[in-house]
Amino acid sequence: MKVGVPKEIVVGENRVALVPDAVGLLRKAGLQILFESGAGEGAFFPDRAYEAAGATIVSDPVALFTEADVVLKVQTPVLNPVLGKHEVELMREGTVLISFLQPVSHPDLVNCLAERKITVFSMDLIPRIARAQKMDALSSQSTVAGYKAVLVAASSLGKFFPMLVTAAGTIPPAKVLVLGAGVAGLQAIATARRLGAMVQAYDIRPAVKEQVESLGGTFIELDLGGEKTEDVSGYAEELTAKSQEREKVLLRRHVPEADIVITTALIPGKRAPVLITAEMVQDMKAGSVIVDLAAEAGGNCELTEPDSVVTRYGVTIHGPLNVPSTMPVHASQMYSKNISSLLLQLVRNGKLELDFNDPVINDTCITHEGRARHQ
Ligand code: NAI
Repeated sequence: MKVGVPKEIVVGENRVALVPDAVGLLRKAGLQILFESGAGEGAFFPDRAYEAAGATIVSDPVALFTEADVVLKVQTPVLNPVLGKHEVELMREGTVLISFLQPVSHPDLVNCLAERKITVFSMDLIPRIARAQKMDALSSQSTVAGYKAVLVAASSLGKFFPMLVTAAGTIPPAKVLVLGAGVAGLQAIATARRLGAMVQAYDIRPAVKEQVESLGGTFIELDLGGEKTEDVSGYAEELTAKSQEREKVLLRRHVPEADIVITTALIPGKRAPVLITAEMVQDMKAGSVIVDLAAEAGGNCELTEPDSVVTRYGVTIHGPLNVPSTMPVHASQMYSKNISSLLLQLVRNGKLELDFNDPVINDTCITHEGRARHQ
């Protein structure tokens, strides 16, 4: 069976779906790897490293898509402007595509893939269960984003992070507030602590208090009067309007005290909750910094502009998109581990064998045999 890895063509995407180290592993499972020439360049993995690992380098993307039985990608398929053809058109009927798809945001694309009889596995639907941890690409990429958000904030802040006692005076540590202590938030807390900042964190799920504290952060608790904030899978649920008001009162006290606020609050499938209002930004000290990782989902700060850096009331507000692509080496390495682990789950003796009784395969597969599988 041939596995094709095309070059990512979305502007600004530096990651690659497979790193050279994974090639040998897949070959041992009886798979042949076709790798588009230059596909690893953005992440600093040259063709020769793939060739040395046993991949076949293919210079023509049309040939690669036509020959591949399985296509591994990072980004959702898009129109290839050079070829004037959509990547979906380039795939053969019956091809398996594994990629980030965000099917809820791309219903037309899902229907189109189903019509073309492409079997699609969406990496953003890997269930967050213990057995699937090594395939969990949302978590691996959020780890990158949480880490990088702190570095972006640090380089925008005109202050030190750690406390310094010097002949020129004593400098207090920077105060970092992290809103949302999921995967990205916890990594942001750990990174800010490593740089020596004082860190506070807030989340509506009381279960994360212990994790925040184990990283050296202080947990800010909101009394929600026993309101349920977590579904059966451990994901956050939207707060009632009354609790959202209480949340704003709490944050109005804490946000202005922070030098840096990193926001990562997310309710799956919903617009990101607005936690920082314009008034709160107005109350912050000039020179403070907000990095809003939820920018893509509408932003946790009312003044965030996605894909932009703006200054409002003296506060620098970053609304970065695709942060993992700015750290393409490790983001690709982690994604490659995730995607090859899923692929190996689909293959027995070098052949595709889909067991839909397996919840990982069932939840992740969004189109098969000409139809969309989930609502
Ligand atoms: P996650 O689901 O692990 O964490 C989200 C956290 O937000 C959960 O702990 C949840 O309880 C919390 N939360 C929900 N509502 C809240 C509220 N009202 N107040 C406080 N906390 C609340 O998600 P993950 O993987 O950590 O991702 C976090 C965010 O970062 C998402 O919006 C994701 O899309 C974004 N992200 C952005 C990237 C970028 O390049 N800009 C890259 C990776 C992730």
